[in-house]
Amino acid sequence: MQRNFPQLSELRPLLQFERPSLDFRANRLAKAADLWDLRRIARRRTPKPAFDYVDGGAGNEETLRRNRQAFSEVEFLPGILGGHPTVDLSTTIAGARSALPVGIAPTGFTRFMNSEGEEAGVGAAVDTGIPYTLSTMGTRSIEEVAAFQPAARRWFQLYLWNDHEASLDLVNRAAAAGYDTLMVTVDTAIAGQRLRDVRNGMTIPPKLNLKTVLDASYRPEWWFNFLTTDSLKFASLSGTSHSLPELINSMFDPTLSLQDLRWLRSVWPGQLFVKGVLTAEDARKALESGADGLVVSNHGGRQLDRAPASLQALREVRDAVGPDIELILDSGIMSGGDIAAALCAGADFTLIGRAYMYGLMAGGRAGVQRALDILAEELRVVTTLLGVSSVAELGPQHARMHWRGPQARPIARP
Ligand code: GLV
Repeated sequence: MQRNFPQLSELRPLLQFERPSLDFRANRLAKAADLWDLRRIARRRTPKPAFDYVDGGAGNEETLRRNRQAFSEVEFLPGILGGHPTVDLSTTIAGARSALPVGIAPTGFTRFMNSEGEEAGVGAAVDTGIPYTLSTMGTRSIEEVAAFQPAARRWFQLYLWNDHEASLDLVNRAAAAGYDTLMVTVDTAIAGQRLRDVRNGMTIPPKLNLKTVLDASYRPEWWFNFLTTDSLKFASLSGTSHSLPELINSMFDPTLSLQDLRWLRSVWPGQLFVKGVLTAEDARKALESGADGLVVSNHGGRQLDRAPASLQALREVRDAVGPDIELILDSGIMSGGDIAAALCAGADFTLIGRAYMYGLMAGGRAGVQRALDILAEELRVVTTLLGVSSVAELGPQHARMHWRGPQARPIARP
């Protein structure tokens, strides 16, 4: 075989030496091509008990896997030659616009996973133009989050709680601080059994022993940040006299009933979404109690193991409530394609919990931003290939869902 050896002048156009950047965080994040890559970075940089608290689910993690399985079994039906130059990824949810059909879900203990915590989440949300949900078990208060980002669209998550006086205080503070939507979590009659946490001896704050000291030598940045920033607390609840374990126990309460939900509806002036609905029957009860919309969620597989995948449950709930009730899909989203699949299956909007936490653990606010940018780009590509000009057009005609069950009867709005 005869070979021609290239001249340097011929090679020059092919050679590109990028100037090395000393911004290690940015370099690290830029190499993440998808949210799974961010998860890998997060795992390396975060102590195992904190990472596993986010990454894990309840029991044998059947529901955690089912959430992913349901998304992977969706078949998209491409649309060719639609002639649309761009796709409008924005939508309306709970009475206002969002730049993307996804918002940040409420997460507890957030500063334990990365000391930038809530500030990172709400900062990336406002820069992206999407809503941010603060958890009752958040590690910054209602007022702190509002002060960080007064321009952010803020939602507040509340556990339905038998301490009505304390709930009323939170609700009033959230309304006064400009939170426009209340998300009431109803799937926590008792805490799910998170076996990874049991095995890891997960405690907040972490106990210092030989294992944690060794862990610190692998994850110096996390430990340095943890030890040099203010201590963890449920910041919105710091005025109450309960201890941390008492607070957690009182949030997970099997004695709560629809009456508590009706009471909450009567004191909250804004939009109210009930989070944790998976069946037509529960959808009906929540709407009859005055919910404006529903979050179809199995709590990321963290509560009742073997519960159905949220994506599958969504079809049943959509068929039951009819086309006009707003439904938000939560649990299992790891890509823009998953968001599109949820919209095809009948969701108006979606939430990400783990997906943004992987970004947070991988690189603070910049990591959350990277996660959101990746999701937006993936969604843009998928919707363009589906041939739509707007996410609002997505529907069952764009996807086949082999597991789709029989149609349930619509229920009338009360
Ligand atoms: C709290 O709601 C959790 O899922 O950890």
